[in-house]
Amino acid sequence: MAKLKVYEYPHPILKQKAEKVEAVDGEMRKFLDDMLETMYASNGCGLAAPQVGVSKRVVVIDIAHEDEKPNPLYMVNPEIVWKSDEVQVCEEGCLSLPSLRAEVERFAAVKVRYLDYNGKECELLAEDFLAIATQHELDHLDGILYIDHVSRLKRQMLVKKLEKMRKEQGGN
Ligand code: NI
Repeated sequence: MAKLKVYEYPHPILKQKAEKVEAVDGEMRKFLDDMLETMYASNGCGLAAPQVGVSKRVVVIDIAHEDEKPNPLYMVNPEIVWKSDEVQVCEEGCLSLPSLRAEVERFAAVKVRYLDYNGKECELLAEDFLAIATQHELDHLDGILYIDHVSRLKRQMLVKKLEKMRKEQGGN
């Protein structure tokens, strides 16, 4: 396995619509392993392929707590096929927007259809925090970041904060 580079805002690949995967083959499984390793190494609970520079419809999620057994979910070509009427608001973060957090409104539950690690078609009812993680990661596949769900003013504040932190860290 190998740790991949995580692309950060405002890299243009994060704004692209990702392409459908043709087949879940050995090469794809190796990529899924690398994505999972990258996510764990970055202390994230979700990662989408565009965040590691690959514009494909692939995400990995693991919402297990640190003291729990890992419970990775691999989703290839995921699609939301049902959304609840209720919504929930929760604070989100993203490995492509390091150190930032903001409250985002999401559906309380979604049903998602995808191909798993073995290329088998699966359907999952995601609720609570798993519903949030699923919607957040699937958004990445359509070039949408969580900051696109907040007001323009709030988004500008967040981006300014990110730029300031980068400057303080001696970046550009
Ligand atoms: Ni994200």
